[in-house]
Amino acid sequence: MTFKTLRDFDLQGKRVLLRVDLNVPVQNGKVTDTTRIDRLKPTIDYLVAQGAKTLILSHFGRPKGISDPALSLSFLPETLKLQWGIDVAFGEEANGPLTLLENLRFHKGEESNDPAFAQTLAQKGDIYINDAFSVSHRAHASTEGLAHLLPAGAGFLMEEELNTLNTMLENPKRPLAAIVGGTKISTKLALLENLLEKTDMLVLGGGMANTFLYAQNTDIKASICEKDMAEQARKIIEKAKCSGCELLLPVDGLAAIALKENIDHVTCDIGNLPDDHMILDIGPKSVEILQHRLQDCKTIIWNGPVGAFEIEPFDTGTTALARFVATLTKQGKVQAIAGGGDTVAALEKAGVTSDFTYISTAGGAFLEWMEGKTLPGVAALLSPGHDTNSIRQGCC
Ligand code: 3PG
Repeated sequence: MTFKTLRDFDLQGKRVLLRVDLNVPVQNGKVTDTTRIDRLKPTIDYLVAQGAKTLILSHFGRPKGISDPALSLSFLPETLKLQWGIDVAFGEEANGPLTLLENLRFHKGEESNDPAFAQTLAQKGDIYINDAFSVSHRAHASTEGLAHLLPAGAGFLMEEELNTLNTMLENPKRPLAAIVGGTKISTKLALLENLLEKTDMLVLGGGMANTFLYAQNTDIKASICEKDMAEQARKIIEKAKCSGCELLLPVDGLAAIALKENIDHVTCDIGNLPDDHMILDIGPKSVEILQHRLQDCKTIIWNGPVGAFEIEPFDTGTTALARFVATLTKQGKVQAIAGGGDTVAALEKAGVTSDFTYISTAGGAFLEWMEGKTLPGVAALLSPGHDTNSIRQGCC
């Protein structure tokens, strides 16, 4: 994959439009997780050091083209200053080194990728840098349209995400395993299809595993299940056999009559579930089997918790597996990457995020990348025809 990066531009005195993802979690006006802000620091430092005047572009929430004070980005410069160690102004034009523009999604033209809105943005800058991999699955004016109007390139975070994710899935050290959890297979069909082709082992957990168990005539009692997806699940099982991808399903689980904190629960083999019980986590035998199988892998990609990890004790399986993968990673035996909001939250709960080789900042974009889709914001960076006047080196 070839695209220009920050290093390919002469940035001195240039007005840079920097698309980032400041769609950060906020509670009572305070940012509760600064990861997305912190991961932008290398790009910010470089732009400042090179003497660029940077206009920072981001969305925040989903205001749907309406100016909603509750979703204003005006509260954020204070946090940006704290995390980046430099003043960030808030306004319309990039006069100082760093200026944050108001929430782009206050304008209808942002999400509709309106050429006129993209043109309005383009007039504010000389160079466009996309450092928002996590929103590059959206073909919006600031993620796609703009890239065709100005010399365009990737920021350091975008570069890191693309290089790491591509290496891990397209050119991994094998055996390559994927752990896929979450509630529904209907939302992860494309992902499973793509992973069957690329991975050597596919570990299925969470509610979606129930649908596979049901499709194989296992009595899953009151467990959540997409019965209408049973045929699709059977097709995936068949395809896995043909493509030589080993599919691993739980053999036991933690089960209860409802998903509630510290509710009475049983640990039992799948197929031996008491009446009215639902599987809420993978059990200790499954964890042991998975540990045994994963220890021979060289690369592990993780998307989706394997149990209802938000509610104790149904975080047990996910935590045990996360800690095991983290240990393998620390020992240098595997390269492990993870992405997706729930997945990262589960790894944080297990206290292992810093032990993984790479944690993507993306949720939806990570999923679409794992599905093998072309992300419009990334594709736009690869498109020809950019004005190359301010490019220092030739195209990479
Ligand atoms: C995210 O948080 O995943 C990105 O900012 C994209 O947000 P969106 O789903 O509202 O487009």
